Amino acid sequence: MPGTPAMGAFAAAERARLLIRDRPLAAGVSLTVSAGVCDLGRAGDAATLVRLADGALYWAKHNGRDLVCLYSPGTVREISDAERADRLERLRSLEALRALARAVDARDPYTQRHSERVAQLARRIALALGWSELRADALHEAGLVHDVGKIGVPDAILLKPAALDAAEFAQIRRHAELGAQIVADALSPEAASWVRGHHERPDGAGYPDGLAGDAIPEGARILALADAWDAMTTDRPYRRGMAAAAALDECRRCAGSQLWATAVEALEALVAPGGPGAGAQTPGTPGRSPGWIRPVS
Ligand SMILES: [Fe+2]
Repeated sequence: MPGTPAMGAFAAAERARLLIRDRPLAAGVSLTVSAGVCDLGRAGDAATLVRLADGALYWAKHNGRDLVCLYSPGTVREISDAERADRLERLRSLEALRALARAVDARDPYTQRHSERVAQLARRIALALGWSELRADALHEAGLVHDVGKIGVPDAILLKPAALDAAEFAQIRRHAELGAQIVADALSPEAASWVRGHHERPDGAGYPDGLAGDAIPEGARILALADAWDAMTTDRPYRRGMAAAAALDECRRCAGSQLWATAVEALEALVAPGGPGAGAQTPGTPGRSPGWIRPVS
């Protein structure tokens, strides 16, 4: 934007961001835009200008996206060209993975936005357990794509209304392992291990590796709880979602066997009356039979 000072560019980017956000492409399909802004007063030359604006862009993407960030040396760290190229590549892979994960969720009308809810809740549980913002963000990313391996499971099995036979169940179980392979290039090895382990159980009866207790990566244990919570509290074809109190009772019952007890305690504090709440959950019918421990959730 020739001749435009930073504040003018910021205002223009902000207008563009709002216009784009508020005009869905189609029903339920909208775009968000993040932007980084800097001017030559700060940068001095063209190459530095691009680098600093890019740093501001990464800050915007890293802090929730759908944001315009004005470069300031106090908030935005300057990054090297190599670092920028690496981040850009990871970001592109991650965007593609997210799209794939959303497509997987959308195959089943009852699991739409499941991964987003799991990611958000997992992040909040992690923060309640004392994780740093950065690590909790990494868990959020892993949560968004935790079920991406279901891309390898045929619809006939994934959406089968009847009970699964052993061979079909084995195919479903492969999604954790396959998902970890798919995300390996976009996420860190630790985050990939969270995806791989999101169906492990503290009692060792989970899959794919049958790990028990502390051998299960902590992020995987948190994802497992967030996943179970979402499966319990959202409506499914065969039952209404459970109310928070009933779901919490079920989590307590499964603490130590299927679910990590420490994370269940953190969740209790999050959803306690007067607490910060467990996010947007569908109100359910109290007292319904659980039936949430499904291999596919
Ligand atoms: Fe899963």
